[in-house]
Amino acid sequence: MEKVELIWMNGEFVPWDDATVHVLSHGFHYGTGVFEGIRCYDGERGPAVFRLQDHLDRLATSAELFYMGMPHAVEELREATKELIRRNGLRSCYIRPLVFRGYGEMGLYAPHAPMEAMIAVWPWGTYLGEEGKQKGIRAKVSSWRRISPQGAIPHSKASGQYLNSILAKTESANAGYDEAILLDDRGLVCEGSGENIFLVREGEIVTPGHVASILDGINRKSVIQIARDLGYTVVERDIARAELYLADEVFLTGTAAELVPVREIDDHDLGEPGEMTRVIQAKFEDALCGRAEEYLEWLDEVGEPTGVPPREPTPGEVEAEEIGEPASGKVGS
Ligand SMILES: Cc1ncc(COP(=O)(O)O)c(C=O)c1O
Repeated sequence: MEKVELIWMNGEFVPWDDATVHVLSHGFHYGTGVFEGIRCYDGERGPAVFRLQDHLDRLATSAELFYMGMPHAVEELREATKELIRRNGLRSCYIRPLVFRGYGEMGLYAPHAPMEAMIAVWPWGTYLGEEGKQKGIRAKVSSWRRISPQGAIPHSKASGQYLNSILAKTESANAGYDEAILLDDRGLVCEGSGENIFLVREGEIVTPGHVASILDGINRKSVIQIARDLGYTVVERDIARAELYLADEVFLTGTAAELVPVREIDDHDLGEPGEMTRVIQAKFEDALCGRAEEYLEWLDEVGEPTGVPPREPTPGEVEAEEIGEPASGKVGS
């Protein structure tokens, strides 16, 4: 990954390499953390974060579902995110906030392990590749089922739950595919390992609803609205596995991957990205980059990069300057 200057950690901007945690941090052992993936785009109105408030609200909801308090107010995290982007001199980047149980108490019930928070930003190209976005990707239905609401909380973007996505992603990558599609515990279509899924069948756009154990994707919501505004019919309903192969078009949405067409599933050829996928993808990208007036409210403007402010001189350095000596020199020796 590409390193930048600063990470925001527990209320302070610290150098990238100093943003470390104790090895006995609770979240490190048990996955007791919640996170977000967010993107900032350098668009028509300068750098702006896509649906920052919605992502941070989901972060707070994810924490609450696992009985974890937020150590900082959402508004503070929002301002810190924008300040971090400016100070790192970035115009577009991926943004990763994480709130987790830190060091202080072990065992499964550890309400006194302090809650900690960090935000990192770094340049990161589209997750499934630029070619995937243009030509479509190859996907495989995973042998792993998406976590069931009877054993975990699919609505929460909780760190520990991602072991499920990692199993599916690893299986598909090892088998030579670009992405995994997970079924839910009922054997119905759920989502990608890090994206929501949409199909086009008989002129309608269909996507699994909330009972299918999906993560309530911010991009899913955005794409549903865009598609309806464009005059398409979008139906949230259960989807049988075979419908993946019978679909006229399939695409995935997520912050990391953005909107990516699927051209092949389980070696069934779906063909080139279809017309509806293309039209929605183009409008979605306009929305991300501030080219669509009607969706400007989704963009949170960051302002121009400022870079890292010069470090305040220490009292010793000030004194040394006054007497014309280098601060590190041994005066008088
Ligand atoms: C499991 C899972 N599903 C769906 C998504 C898509 O969510 P969003 O559009 O909010 O990025 C993500 C990405 O965060 C994810 O990890």
